[in-house]
Amino acid sequence: MPHRERYLFICTNRREEGNPKGSCAQKGSEELVKRMKAALLERGLAKTAARACSTSCLDLCEYGASIVIEPDHIVYGNVTLDDVDAIADAVAKGEIVQRLVIAPPAKGA
Ligand code: FES
Repeated sequence: MPHRERYLFICTNRREEGNPKGSCAQKGSEELVKRMKAALLERGLAKTAARACSTSCLDLCEYGASIVIEPDHIVYGNVTLDDVDAIADAVAKGEIVQRLVIAPPAKGA
């Protein structure tokens, strides 16, 4: 299989119930991976352009479910199943879903 132009790393880390950090899996990210894979496949992107991968904690737990897209280094937070089509469409067009972007911390913060 060829390398893809983009990789969507979707956190599927699951912490035990009651952990104050919570986790992306508790917020539905496992289903998010399945739906994103299907959405990329539907758009003809899955084989060459973009691959959705489950990953462990991205240390963005408070923003879960979280996704990091590389090599663009786009960071999305609070992603739900309702956002899958918008993200897949943006990947297809080389665009960013601005409403989901987590702003990077200010330098020196
Ligand atoms: S549990 Fe998903 S970013 Fe930490």
